[in-house]
Amino acid sequence: MATPDAAAASPRLVVLASGRGSNLQALLDAIAEGRLPARVVGVLGDRPKAPALARAHAAGIPALALRPRDFASRDAFDAALFAEVVALQPDFIVCAGYMRLLGATVLAPWAGRIVNIHPSLLPAFKGLDTHARAIAAGVVEHGASVHFVTADLDGGPVIAQARVAVQPDDDAATLAARVLEVEYPLLVATLGLLVSGRLALRGGVVLLDRRVIDTPLQLAANHLAA
Ligand code: GRF
Repeated sequence: MATPDAAAASPRLVVLASGRGSNLQALLDAIAEGRLPARVVGVLGDRPKAPALARAHAAGIPALALRPRDFASRDAFDAALFAEVVALQPDFIVCAGYMRLLGATVLAPWAGRIVNIHPSLLPAFKGLDTHARAIAAGVVEHGASVHFVTADLDGGPVIAQARVAVQPDDDAATLAARVLEVEYPLLVATLGLLVSGRLALRGGVVLLDRRVIDTPLQLAANHLAA
């Protein structure tokens, strides 16, 4: 468990979330258990009733959702959301089940400091319904990816992945559940590298310890390896 002083000095995370918030919870648990030297200073979203916001409140973390319909355009919504983000003074932003595209204007200052978790082995199956689409495509392997966010939907440079085998009797729900189990350690391990300053994004490529990684890091036994 981090001491109060250590916690105050820890890298500050803002989490963007639209829904259930189980990845947020995994981060909060990892932080509370001393497995991730960071602090979630706020949770922001686009759905006031999202369970993710309730999880944040339960943990004593400021949480707020803005409603897209209250804004004249997507850019106006993004600008308002990021005004809230900036007010929280994060070092990094984590999209954990945040279901809206972010525009290039708000993302520009955060290049290399904003990541997203997506439930597929990118570049396969960008967008929604990834598990059903993976089964329909007959792939033998599926999984999750953490990538740097760009204005390209699920298209930013991939940092790390976790793989699961697709079983013959899988449906979208069983596959989603198994992928979710690896999402949590994948997100925690990737953020561990990010908050310790070991990851960078330069010219559209991912660097680990100042070296280009040609293929995403792979999660094995809850650790990331090249
Ligand atoms: C996860 O599968 C994540 O990869 C995707 O949306 C889902 C969010 O789940 N982007 P939760 O809200 O973290 O429980």
